[in-house]
Amino acid sequence: MGVRRVGLVVALVAACAGGPVKPTHPTPEQEAAADALLTGPDWYRNAVFYEVNVRSFADSNGDGIGDLAGLVSKLDYLKDLGVDAVWMMPIMPSPFKDSGYDIADYRNIDPAYGDLAGFDALVAAAHQRNIRVMMDLVLNHTSDQHAWFQDSRTSATSEHADWYVWSDTPSDPNIGCGPAAPTFGDSAWTFEPARNQYYFHRFYPAQPDLNYRNPAVAAEMLDTVRFWLQRGVDGFRCDVIGYLFESATGCNMIPETVDYIKQLRGVLDEFPNTVMVAETDIGLGPVPYLGDGTDMFHMAFDFPYGYFWGVAFLGENSSIAQNALQTVQTQYPPGGQDAMLIGSHDVGRAWSHAQELAWRMQRATEISMFSHATPFIYYGDELAVHDGTTFVVDSRDSARTPMPWTADDPGHGFTTAAAPWIPFSGGADTTNVASEDADPGSMLTFYRQLLTFRRGHAVWGTGDMNVLTLDNPSVLAFTRSDSDEAYLVVESFSEDPQDATAQASVGAIGDVVWGAGAATDDGTTLHVSLPGEGSAVFALSH
Ligand code: NOJ
Ligand code: CA
Repeated sequence: MGVRRVGLVVALVAACAGGPVKPTHPTPEQEAAADALLTGPDWYRNAVFYEVNVRSFADSNGDGIGDLAGLVSKLDYLKDLGVDAVWMMPIMPSPFKDSGYDIADYRNIDPAYGDLAGFDALVAAAHQRNIRVMMDLVLNHTSDQHAWFQDSRTSATSEHADWYVWSDTPSDPNIGCGPAAPTFGDSAWTFEPARNQYYFHRFYPAQPDLNYRNPAVAAEMLDTVRFWLQRGVDGFRCDVIGYLFESATGCNMIPETVDYIKQLRGVLDEFPNTVMVAETDIGLGPVPYLGDGTDMFHMAFDFPYGYFWGVAFLGENSSIAQNALQTVQTQYPPGGQDAMLIGSHDVGRAWSHAQELAWRMQRATEISMFSHATPFIYYGDELAVHDGTTFVVDSRDSARTPMPWTADDPGHGFTTAAAPWIPFSGGADTTNVASEDADPGSMLTFYRQLLTFRRGHAVWGTGDMNVLTLDNPSVLAFTRSDSDEAYLVVESFSEDPQDATAQASVGAIGDVVWGAGAATDDGTTLHVSLPGEGSAVFALSH
């Protein structure tokens, strides 16, 4: 493409304040370029993903619960925003003890959301718009209401007796791990009187861990994956995938689990252009999930950035972001793709992590969209939806409130019911799609502008990245380049104006194409200046 290539030596200036209004929709030329990038097996490197909580997105039948038909009705909104793939939180039948991450039937749709025909209709409607559909794949555990567990718990000789992890003691020396997090309780073992044994669960007691050492379990779950791929799904977000196998010495990404992930990848490889993204462990980081770049996950979530970017802004110190980007640059296998987010259903709203400062959310979002990564947007973060304060399942419900589409009480365009299944977050009278659409200063307008800026430019998904070492910890700078384009990206973590210097050269610096700032490069030293709260992208000639 090379549409922004320039060759000036110095650029000092601001494209934002007083500059031209940034477009909120791509040109036909950009869309054509995007279509080409989204074709073939590497589509996911150039795509923008969007995590949606179906239950809270749009309610089609007025029962207060979002559903698949509701999601279909909002696909045009997503297309218009620049979303290329939707990842749905679990939609299979579930007693909802962990917001659907407790599945009672792996080959069906929860009636609250629709049925298999409705699922097929969603996939068809999404594909018609060139939007991919990703499901949440919860392999580690089932619901305690699943027929397999209901049978397993009856006796040690039942048909499914060995489908779960049972022990005579709640401190079994063969299982060297406890609960995944304090949220899920003090013990990973619960006594089952009918069987006179304890069963193992990393999460809530209502989520017994499957026994992957049983070949029938291992095979059944791979067949489940085939079931959905045959229905046309484009891939999976794989829940706590590192926990499948347990051992005396460890329970996280042990060799048996790594081997199973490779088998899972083998199943996806039977279906062209399907992809899987790993829910990674914060301690391990994303690298172990990527294998050699071809044999495990296509993408791995970058939680060291995704969960902690707010801390970086609190301390006005970019090192959390810098370390995350450097890990991608120096430790990822060839072909390994970072998956960057600033919000998810597990960590509270980005708006809170940003201390309710729009500029922090905007800088954090830019980093997720300008670094060498595939960006994931959590539904509602494009509006800066606030954390809710009413919980149905647990405190993570703060980030699972209904999508506010309009200012109208009480349903905000989400539902015609008197009340949704969980109350809206505060501020929905102004923080909603309709109001923000009409506001040039809104978070939604910012997201539209940013997504439009990136659209159709391969450099952002796949271009080389070089993180620069600066003398100012409040600033992050890196370059991106491919055979068509090159850019210098500079992001501030401070509310005050910042200067920074790197003993490096990035070549001839051209126009500011995003944000505002100044930069000079004399061939050995790079100097950048940013206004408080600011960022700038400079075109580089190469
Ligand atoms: C990770 C999911 O993101 C989280 O919401 C859930 O509670 C656990 N896995 C258990 O499935
Ligand atoms: Ca409904």
